[in-house]
Amino acid sequence: RLLIIDFGSQVTQLIARRLRELNVYCEIHPYQKVTDAFLTEFAPKAIIFSGGPDSVTREGSPRPPQSAYTLGVPILGICYGQQVMMQDLGGVVEAGQSHTAEFGRAYVKPTELKTDLFNGWFLDPNGREQVWMSHGDHVAKLAPGFDVYGTSSGAPFAMTADLERRFYAVQFHPEVHHTPNGATLYANFVRLAGFTGDWTMGAYREEMIQKIRDEVGDKKVICALSGGVDSSVTGILLHEAIGDQLTCVFVDHGMLRLNEAEQVVAMFRENYNLNLIHADESDLFLNALEGVSDPEVKRKTIGKLFIDVFQKYANEIEGAEFLAQGTLYPDVIESVSFSGGPSVTIKSHHNVGGLPEKMGLKLVEPLRELFKDEVRALGTELGLPASFIGRHPFPGPGLAIRCPGEITREKLDILRKADAIYIDQIRKHGLYDDIWQAFAAILPMRTVGVMGDGRTYDFALALRAVTSVDGMTADYYPFTHEFLGETSTRIINEVQGINRVFYDCTSKPPGTIELE
Ligand code: XMP
Repeated sequence: RLLIIDFGSQVTQLIARRLRELNVYCEIHPYQKVTDAFLTEFAPKAIIFSGGPDSVTREGSPRPPQSAYTLGVPILGICYGQQVMMQDLGGVVEAGQSHTAEFGRAYVKPTELKTDLFNGWFLDPNGREQVWMSHGDHVAKLAPGFDVYGTSSGAPFAMTADLERRFYAVQFHPEVHHTPNGATLYANFVRLAGFTGDWTMGAYREEMIQKIRDEVGDKKVICALSGGVDSSVTGILLHEAIGDQLTCVFVDHGMLRLNEAEQVVAMFRENYNLNLIHADESDLFLNALEGVSDPEVKRKTIGKLFIDVFQKYANEIEGAEFLAQGTLYPDVIESVSFSGGPSVTIKSHHNVGGLPEKMGLKLVEPLRELFKDEVRALGTELGLPASFIGRHPFPGPGLAIRCPGEITREKLDILRKADAIYIDQIRKHGLYDDIWQAFAAILPMRTVGVMGDGRTYDFALALRAVTSVDGMTADYYPFTHEFLGETSTRIINEVQGINRVFYDCTSKPPGTIELE
């Protein structure tokens, strides 16, 4: 296995991700924890020093244990990791000066020397590679044994290596997207270190299960299951690890999609035999929302009730000591402040924020190292159907924010039927996977129409579909006119209460994806 020593860079997790993509097992440990004894015990096959915000020129700045250099295993140092390696081994690092600092895109050019670490680099006609730099300090003199393999305008020692000892060090960040050929460099490094790339998501699943068992012991765990991918994968993983020590609470606020609650409950009880409480509290939520039309008041009302309800059910589970949450890596915001070590703070989850402290529960977050697509891969590994894994995102407050203005049971019923037809149309036309998110919203207005020989005065419906990579920005989906016409006709014919359909062609910004 490979050890990543974390010196506090914002992007250390991306290194782990690149390695997982190469089917190499790695673990990230903060430098404070990595002592000589730790290193002996861990017995890494290779080590990566991450970047970090400190300056090696500062007295007391973070260091790896010096035995790292005598283990005889390959080491790759990145940014701060390069500088620390150079200084430890007898080179010189100079503190930042404005003309040598580099932040952002830079280009490295090869020297006449060659190493296998940079196989596959510098192939395009202009012979340079785009890389991402983010450094104030720079290496001014190489440590003995090292040579230069690439230079950039701000970093004469952008790519360095001591081939004999298999120590490699780069000033840029090969793990980020803006170093387009960075993955090749990691692939070369792990090959040089002798990894065959045989680690799989199946192995990860087994490791996670063991970790959960070690963490939880014989204690009880509760989990808020929403039916979304993250909480479902969390629930199933915990169930595999600790079986009946886990109880999941599915809070049904009455604003889910057509047949959704029944499907979620059936899937988890029947397919996974999971301890599941179906907290059907739709009346409580809908009564509380009566007469409420302000979007923020709606959200707050739902959020508060959710916590109350979850707490009520959770309190009935005697002896629960842990709360499981499907927090993903992007939810874990790495702190920029460097108060003695790499530190992370957690962004509280939409739905259960503040609950663990309030209830005196400890958190279990098995997915906190993973990115969304990795969670999907793990879900597939756990047997979740592809149709479930690939579902569009659905917001915590549910249909409430797709029903601008006052929410009524009548409107929700109409919306559920119309939305199901819309999604059915999208699936039938094979468009579902091209779209980030699609849904119908019922507008707070009635308009006049004519059906048969009669006058109608019914609700108008808005259809929304967007493409996006992360939900932060989005573009409306360019359906054909035929598709829109056919869908509109189906909805008006099949759903009583709708006599007009609009397509929302607003991007985000300036719009948001949801209507509220
Ligand atoms: P907006 O409407 O802000 O949505 O453009 C961006 C993405 O976030 C989802 N969303 C939510 N998800 N709880 C959630 O779990 C919420 O309160 C919430 N509000 C918006 C939205 O569906 C879209 O994918």
